Amino acid sequence: GRERINIAIDGPAGAGKSTVARKVAEQLGYVYIDTGAMYRAVTLSALRSGIDPLDGPEIASHAASLDIRLLPGEQGQRVLLNGEDVTEEIRSREVTQNVSQVAANGAVRRLLAEKQRRLADRKGVVMDGRDIGSHVLPDAELKVFLTASASERALRRYREIGDAQGVSLEQLEREIEERDRMDRERDVSPLVCASDAVVMDSTAMTIEEVCSAIVSLSRTKLAEAK
Ligand code: CDP
Ligand code: CDP
Repeated sequence: GRERINIAIDGPAGAGKSTVARKVAEQLGYVYIDTGAMYRAVTLSALRSGIDPLDGPEIASHAASLDIRLLPGEQGQRVLLNGEDVTEEIRSREVTQNVSQVAANGAVRRLLAEKQRRLADRKGVVMDGRDIGSHVLPDAELKVFLTASASERALRRYREIGDAQGVSLEQLEREIEERDRMDRERDVSPLVCASDAVVMDSTAMTIEEVCSAIVSLSRTKLAEAK
């Protein structure tokens, strides 16, 4: 029979998780799921409604009222918020600066983690985030913890958005480090490396090198699963 596994990719901002996860999914014929997009969609919606990201009960009940969907699209995953395509808007600076406060909310995390688990029920999923290997999919056959130095991660983000969002490299590095700190220090399912994850430092690796390393690990895990 055709066995499939689940692959969890976690790590700090700008490590290359979503780029690599999308390509690995493509190569394996798997489904890519960007869990950060779900936290971003909740954040965008809360900001639009004028809710303070630090108002826990308000954020929690707002999140519970939303219909968030991830759809495969021509240029990668599309994100629908109550039917509206917010794929681009969830990458705004304002959302990025508020998302870690929203993601520290335990009720929001429970809600989204449950959704994420359901999406992975039938296996053949590559899911990226912060708590996938440690919390959402603890039984994932392959777990990768993808890192890179903070300056390299800031540089990657800068090349991607720096000019468009009018932000300096130094500023971007500070913001990334602050977000990572919040993600690591929160009480509920923080960013951690699962004990059984393979650690990959991509500072000096190309996207292709990271992808082929993960695909080759997945082939080993697939052989073991048979
Ligand atoms: O792409 P980037 O690394 O900038 O961020 P992302 O993956 O879109 O995630 C945005 C934020 O969502 C993170 O900084 C976390 O605060 C939160 N997040 C989380 O808490 N748990 C996840 N599984 C995924 C994202
Ligand atoms: O999802 P995450 O925040 O971990 O990172 P990303 O958005 O996938 O990647 C950030 C940027 O770094 C993208 O523009 C990638 O093309 C670039 N990059 C990479 O992902 N991996 C490398 N080994 C080198 C560059």
